[in-house]
Amino acid sequence: MAGRRQDKAIVPPSIVILTGAGISAESGVDTFRDKDGIWSKIDYRDVATPEGFARNPAMVHEFYNMRRERLKDIRPNAAHFALAKLEQAHPGEFLLVTQNIDSLHEQAGSRKLIHMHGQHDSALCALCEMRFPWEGAMSLETGCKACGSRGYVRPDVVWFGEMPYRMDEIFRALGTADLFISIGTSGNVYPAAGFVSQARQAGARTVELNLEPSEGVSHFDEAVHGKATEIVPAFVEKLLAGG
Ligand code: APR
Ligand code: ZN
Repeated sequence: MAGRRQDKAIVPPSIVILTGAGISAESGVDTFRDKDGIWSKIDYRDVATPEGFARNPAMVHEFYNMRRERLKDIRPNAAHFALAKLEQAHPGEFLLVTQNIDSLHEQAGSRKLIHMHGQHDSALCALCEMRFPWEGAMSLETGCKACGSRGYVRPDVVWFGEMPYRMDEIFRALGTADLFISIGTSGNVYPAAGFVSQARQAGARTVELNLEPSEGVSHFDEAVHGKATEIVPAFVEKLLAGG
């Protein structure tokens, strides 16, 4: 795949990848908006908004305690491993941005990774804003490891209406991307759903790899639809062979 010409040398292309719940579906993680998805069972306003947490913190803790418990035993699938292989083999700039709070990309070996919506195994203190690793159940009794306060520790997950993490780094990478690949996301939630337009403005080639056409499929130059464990390794092999 051609890179940008810079004073005669060919600089290898810069790749930015966005993943969503669909890449973890075949590892047994529920998606949000598919039939029987998480938001078909519980109202996101009750468990994924600051207002919901203020209204009923115990319910929110119970929701994330259940998710943390379930996410403990899952394993990466062929799609996660293919992205780790691409990161290791690619000579140019590479950034993987995930909307997922699971740790399957890390387990598969990805390192150049941003969890823009936070992580299931991290806690955030709403009082001192410290974040710290967290396993097991969390409750209103949980004390902050930094300031010691109780009743302010919450799941370190970015809720609707909150600012995702490390957006300046993500926007910078999109601004110089040569290739933008969106994997396993329905394109329903901003700012992630707008990344394809930013990449296009930067002149990037844009590709959607998803089980079915997403909300934003018309913004992509190319789209391959199928199961992530099949289409992602195939796409990575083609890329590494110069495709
Ligand atoms: N292979 C590839 N794609 C799949 C697979 C699969 N096996 N299974 C499902 N998908 C696709 C679906 O077709 C859908 O387009 O994954 C997408 C999942 O979409 P959502 O459930 O909306 O999840 P996501 O796009 O990650 O949601 C974004 O919304 O609720 C918030 O913070 C939450 O990060 C989440 C954000
Ligand atoms: Zn604190």
